[in-house]
Amino acid sequence: MKFPSPRVFVLRGVQAIDPSQELDAEVDVVVENGVITRLGRDAAAGFQGPSGSGPDGTIEIDGHGKWLLPGLVDLHAHLREPGQEGKENLESGLFAAAAGGFTDVCAMPNTRPVNDSPLITELLLRRARELSPVRMHPIGAITVGQKGEELTEMAALKEAGAIAVSDDGRCVTSSALMRRALEYARTFDLPLIQHAEDHALTAGAEMHEGAVSTRLGLRGWPRVAEDIIVARDLILAEYTQARYHVAHLSTLGAARLVREAKSRGLAVTAEVTPHHLLLTHEAVMGYRTACKVNPPLREEEDVEALRQALADGTIDCVATDHAPHGPADKDVPFADAAPGMIGLEICLPLLLGLVKKGALPLGRLVDSLTRAPAKVAGLTAPRLAESARADFVLLDPAYRWTIDPSRLVSRSKNTPFAGVAVEGRVELTVSAGRIAFAVAPAAAEIR
Ligand code: DOR
Ligand code: ZN
Repeated sequence: MKFPSPRVFVLRGVQAIDPSQELDAEVDVVVENGVITRLGRDAAAGFQGPSGSGPDGTIEIDGHGKWLLPGLVDLHAHLREPGQEGKENLESGLFAAAAGGFTDVCAMPNTRPVNDSPLITELLLRRARELSPVRMHPIGAITVGQKGEELTEMAALKEAGAIAVSDDGRCVTSSALMRRALEYARTFDLPLIQHAEDHALTAGAEMHEGAVSTRLGLRGWPRVAEDIIVARDLILAEYTQARYHVAHLSTLGAARLVREAKSRGLAVTAEVTPHHLLLTHEAVMGYRTACKVNPPLREEEDVEALRQALADGTIDCVATDHAPHGPADKDVPFADAAPGMIGLEICLPLLLGLVKKGALPLGRLVDSLTRAPAKVAGLTAPRLAESARADFVLLDPAYRWTIDPSRLVSRSKNTPFAGVAVEGRVELTVSAGRIAFAVAPAAAEIR
């Protein structure tokens, strides 16, 4: 979906929130030719943009009662191209991202074929640029075919545009290989994103190991399978002085390990998903395949620890782990179902619920979705400041709606949050001055 973009935007009286600029104030914002040229109280007073509403015109937006945030950055999404376009493709995935307020999306390499080569990286970049104003940043594989045997050519991957390396979906299990991977990644200044799972401890596992797995008679995935890998990796990261990032951290033990490593100054970072912040293994009751995810939904005490770790900065970022799957992979017996759930379009409204409950400061939530992930990925962080590239999301914080998967734009509808009432709706996403998404009334105004 393409939206015609005007050359000039004028937003009046909007509540602009950007902790990276220590900004939380009602301001006017003017964008000219893709750059924020004025931002401040009454900054648009007396400003006269070109008349008309076409591409050379001006769009005027009354921002009263609305929030303006920097464009969101997702460190972890599965866009399924190449190879599984029935589940998602670059176009649908990036449109879903825009609808969720994201201007930057990092794409995991567990595609078919795996993105382990500069050729695929370049192809993805070229296609994404044609398809969407939302920026897609490819993540290259750590090992060839994600087989855990042979390292990829990380220098070539970086040269082609990869911003990090990961074997997400699979763990780099061998300590020897992990050591070399960290050394190699450090040489090319690439962060290494680990999917922390000791596969020997999770063989045949279907959900978190605990009271619910016992009740349901499902094989359990113990917390220690994550903790052991994180502990070992932190030792290796210290030894190699590499940049190490924990994907979808899900246990209280892993949060404790990262906290301790950070307190000693290690270059370690971590992310947590909305679903691990909001759901426990109880949600799996009834064999709900929508709740099957890797790592699995944990327990109340993990959820508490993750919220605390995100609030105090131990966990740097929120990342969606948007993992689209269709009915062929989800409307099947629990044992056969693929793990994963979609997240791009519902991440922000779901987590605003945590803010409203007082479980997370708004500033920390915004930081964890903007500056912090951009820093991990080495990207220019979207920010609300004069002279900055115009990357922002306009939100109606009071708008109440109910999550209806059939109305989401992602090609896959696999979410356990169907029917959940949320507050806060993305109305407009602007990436580098171009409209990437607008809700119907705003879209009508633009045309
Ligand atoms: O739940 C998950 N789904 N976890 C992963 O690590 C991979 C992902 C996918 O690709 O579907
Ligand atoms: Zn993932």
